[in-house]
Amino acid sequence: MNVPLRETLGAHAALPAVARHPSQLVGRTPVLWIDEPFAPPGRGFYAKLEGANPGGIKDRPGLHMIREARRRGDLRPGTPIVESSSGTFALGLALAGLTHGHPVTVVTDPGMEPSVLRLLTTLGAYVDQVAVPHRDGGWQQARRERVAELLARTPGAYCPDQYHNPDNVAAYRPLAMELIAQLGRVDVLVASVGTGGHSAGISCVLRECFPALTLIGVDSVGSTIFGQPARPRLMRGLGSSIHPGNVDYAAFAEVHWVAPAEAVWACRRLGHRHYATGGWSVGAVALVAGWAARTYPLGTRVAAVFPDGPHRYLDTVYNDVWCREHRLLGQEPPRKPREIAEPDACVVTGWTRCGTVRDPLGRGSAKRAEAGVR
Ligand SMILES: Cc1ncc(COP(=O)(O)O)c(C=O)c1O
Repeated sequence: MNVPLRETLGAHAALPAVARHPSQLVGRTPVLWIDEPFAPPGRGFYAKLEGANPGGIKDRPGLHMIREARRRGDLRPGTPIVESSSGTFALGLALAGLTHGHPVTVVTDPGMEPSVLRLLTTLGAYVDQVAVPHRDGGWQQARRERVAELLARTPGAYCPDQYHNPDNVAAYRPLAMELIAQLGRVDVLVASVGTGGHSAGISCVLRECFPALTLIGVDSVGSTIFGQPARPRLMRGLGSSIHPGNVDYAAFAEVHWVAPAEAVWACRRLGHRHYATGGWSVGAVALVAGWAARTYPLGTRVAAVFPDGPHRYLDTVYNDVWCREHRLLGQEPPRKPREIAEPDACVVTGWTRCGTVRDPLGRGSAKRAEAGVR
């Protein structure tokens, strides 16, 4: 293993008995064993509960990206931070802004849950909402264009750009080191994909220890990341209508697309059976991790990343009226996904698995072929 394990763990080994600043509460999140109803007893998976961070999983890249930008001189003391986010990264940036003394503006869209909007303003961020989606790139592209507009008119303003900034990936080294310390060994990692940051960042560090690691990506139906056509998406957090540069396509052995009703079922079952639950990506990841735990050979150690907790989803995933309006209730997912051979073989509308993963834009494929990588 190339990483000085003890040294890296040393920096993250224990939470302080009393934190002097909220940023000290980030990391060292717990792991919970999950089995039924996702997998039979004894064949479950280990869920890394990132909802235990003050804001969620994105507290890690929020703090790391701002620290690095300041170190490089890309972000001057006291100047504004502007970023597009559907929520979790915004919470991380609000924490980073508070920690390092920068005003934070978050560009979002009408899909942001009112509770998150109120929470962000409570935590000192400014929220700027776009009103109409971009013709081709949807809400995400509309938000990115608004960020460009704000940057052009705000001298010294800095955009961390979580979709393409490699610091987003590097921010997850401590999380991977925590998993190694908590589980000893990881054979399969199941991670949702939005910007691609945590799947790429955790898997590359785990592979330094466990070269045979299998990485399973979890995406939303209607997301373009793995080569499906863009369609309106109900689920937030995972999925995208652009092609983020941080997705490490070569790292994935397979991808699963999950539909909103399937994620709702999983989120609610998690809550009932395990107390720990979360948002769309948590439900989707639990469904796929449960399948992996029952399908991979007995003894395979499966870890899954749960990016956040349930609180911001009380008006959606956990609201019967809202779920009924969107026809999301009473549909137990199939026991296994539908299989397709190529990611663009057909438009997927429910849980589907594909063992061929490639960058739909073909970026980096020449370089990987040269290096003899799939
Ligand atoms: C709740 C939630 N889950 C999953 C993801 C996907 O994580 P990543 O951007 O690291 O791919 C995000 C990204 O914003 C998120 O907010």
